[in-house]
Amino acid sequence: MTQDVRLTVDTAALAHNVGVLRERAGSALVMVVVKANAYGHGAVESARAFAAAGVDWLGVADLDEALELRRAGITTPVLAWLHAPGETFEQAARHDVTPAVSDLAQLEAAAAAGVRAVHLCVDTGLSRNGAVESEWPALFDRAAELRDVLPVEGLMSHLSNTSPEEDGLQLASFFRASAALGERGIEPPLRHLAASAAALHYEGSHGTMVRFGLAAYGLSPFPDRTSADLGLRPALTMTAPVTSTKRVPAGEGVSYGYLFRPERDTTIAVVPVGYSDGIDRAASDRASVTIGQRTYRVRGRIAMNALVIDVGDDPVEVGDEVVVFGDPALGRQGADDWARASGSITWDVVASLSARLPRSTA
Ligand SMILES: Cc1ncc(COP(=O)(O)O)c(C=O)c1O
Repeated sequence: MTQDVRLTVDTAALAHNVGVLRERAGSALVMVVVKANAYGHGAVESARAFAAAGVDWLGVADLDEALELRRAGITTPVLAWLHAPGETFEQAARHDVTPAVSDLAQLEAAAAAGVRAVHLCVDTGLSRNGAVESEWPALFDRAAELRDVLPVEGLMSHLSNTSPEEDGLQLASFFRASAALGERGIEPPLRHLAASAAALHYEGSHGTMVRFGLAAYGLSPFPDRTSADLGLRPALTMTAPVTSTKRVPAGEGVSYGYLFRPERDTTIAVVPVGYSDGIDRAASDRASVTIGQRTYRVRGRIAMNALVIDVGDDPVEVGDEVVVFGDPALGRQGADDWARASGSITWDVVASLSARLPRSTA
């Protein structure tokens, strides 16, 4: 990238977060979710760091993501839970990837492919993938028949995080699924439905494994609790140099649509990141960045490849390093600040970051 936009992942922070989360998980095993390019952090390097930190499992959405990890030589158990129609699971079998199956067709295909084991995915109320309760008898009966060729290693579901009451209903449904499997002589050692929020909020949701996504990257899943409150360290820092500055007289329009017209003469600095890099245009004129220890407001519309900040009369120069976001404990804007600015969520801020941006580890 000629403009020197950079994403730096602090692997020591990833390891630190795993340590904190393992403690919070108690006796449950720890899966770290590395789907969506490891939440924008870079799949292979992040997965390597998590594996080195001793996580028990890695989780991905689809088999392509799982195979990328295997091709990179990562040998940690990997679970993948979203599959294309007609998936044969042959690659999963060949590369020792564990599929979570949501229906009979997937179960049959996994058995035919000779995968080592499956997790059964049940829909306990999210209304996404997973077998709904009326489908459990047929799925579980068949899983029992196939038990000798295809062990059921896990039972999984996913929470909607709507309210403690709604999560409680899902948990009750999950226990029913577990009991229904038990009646058929299947006792999966791995029972998991909690992601970051439930795992950190409610020990009763732990089952025998928890799946940490956002929190493993050091980001808080709660709007009212910071990373530091949770003892976590945000691992990702996005930086870019100032590429130009210019003096703008009071009243002059700045960027598309002239969303911003300064009230007094000021200096604006151009930062070469925009929505093609995954920076949400909805944060236009709201988000902030830092240069050194000073915070500057993004002004006007965020464009495809650039945004503009108002640096007032400060001596900001071409080449100065702009921290778009990083660890708030170091005085930077956080990914959560960007989420608030764009009216989105922290997951979206990091997962949207373009895969073509150079990532390095520190
Ligand atoms: C099935 C599943 N488990 C776990 C996670 C991790 O969620 P979080 O990032 O909230 O920890 C996700 C992410 O969306 C998911 O889809």
